[in-house]
Amino acid sequence: MYCVRAITNDVYWVGANDHRLHLFENIHPIPRGVSYNAYVLLDKATVLFDTVDWSVCRQFLENVEHVLNGRDLDYLVINHMEPDHCASMEEIILRYPKVKIISTEKSFMLMRQFGFRIDNQDLIEVKEGDTQCFGKHTVTYVAAPMVHWPEAMVTLDLTDGILFSADAFGSFIALDGRLFADEVNFDRDWIDEARRYYTNIVGKYGPHVQHLLGKAATVLDKIKYICPLHGPVWRRDFPYLLDKYTHWSTYTPEEKGVLIVYASMYGNTESAAQILASRLCEKGITNIRVCDVSNIHVSELIAETFKYSHLVLASVTYNLGIYPVMLDFLEHMKALHVQKRTVTIIENGSWAVKSGDLMQKFIDDNLQDMTILNERVSMASTLHEDKQQEMEQLAQALADSLQDTEQS
Ligand code: FEO
Repeated sequence: MYCVRAITNDVYWVGANDHRLHLFENIHPIPRGVSYNAYVLLDKATVLFDTVDWSVCRQFLENVEHVLNGRDLDYLVINHMEPDHCASMEEIILRYPKVKIISTEKSFMLMRQFGFRIDNQDLIEVKEGDTQCFGKHTVTYVAAPMVHWPEAMVTLDLTDGILFSADAFGSFIALDGRLFADEVNFDRDWIDEARRYYTNIVGKYGPHVQHLLGKAATVLDKIKYICPLHGPVWRRDFPYLLDKYTHWSTYTPEEKGVLIVYASMYGNTESAAQILASRLCEKGITNIRVCDVSNIHVSELIAETFKYSHLVLASVTYNLGIYPVMLDFLEHMKALHVQKRTVTIIENGSWAVKSGDLMQKFIDDNLQDMTILNERVSMASTLHEDKQQEMEQLAQALADSLQDTEQS
């Protein structure tokens, strides 16, 4: 049975939801599922924008068949050929053998590299600024390299102002009937997962996202709908969405606040993290999140790092190095180009306290535009009373820095 929704009189969502996949890209947990979006335009010609992951192919095929209502499929536009969107294209070709495929040169190259059998089809290679008329609707193709793969493009329907935005403006969480962002309480229920999606999937490519946002800004008044390949379709609140994307893609914190990430073996470093959180609250700083690096998935830690202005790294020393799970978090920060944060350090060790210097060196060597405050709490096994002064200085340094951030 088909499961489709109309976006306009002649554009339909024909995607599907996946609640069975545990790990997106086999790495990021998705406890609330994910949607794979695809769209059909019914015009003089019929056009399918992207396909879906193999796991939901059957539902997708029923949806396409229903919307086409006996018509043949004339064109398949592939904005992004990553297999979570392109894996079902061979099934489309089998069912609609005359379909012409529209995509970029690099996309066709990658399709062949993945072994997709496309070479018996008419292939239409497009590039930045090309336009195409399907009847009433004329579209233009816009290159979007590295958002999130090098071959990506987005398509703007100039007639009805529909931006098929590929991975840009996407989100985790299955739609479960709600297609439009204004059908959910996005800021309450979705933003954390949208941030986790963006920061972990596209976070490394901020300058490329900025470039795409710059192009979008020139036609913003023409855009009425934003149709990403995951998550809800946007038809209002564009300033909210663009503000989030501007913060994330420029690595600018969304909020003045403190993320305390601790690595603790026996609870002593955790205790120090909790004491710091209490000291900060006593100073009126309550926008705090305390996270156990061992129990919160690194994709969530990364998302929170993009959100907060200040970061406290509290880690035991392990085999004379950084606690491995904390090191993994730091490596993810490096890989995703986290920058522009203010950092303080709490270090612990029982026979050698090394983690503080090592974390500082990692940040100095690998991350850009990070400010590491001089104050540091260094503890041997547990936080003793004589460390009260160090902890107070650390808390005050954070408070002063937050105050400076407010004034700047
Ligand atoms: Fe959802 Fe980059 O694929």
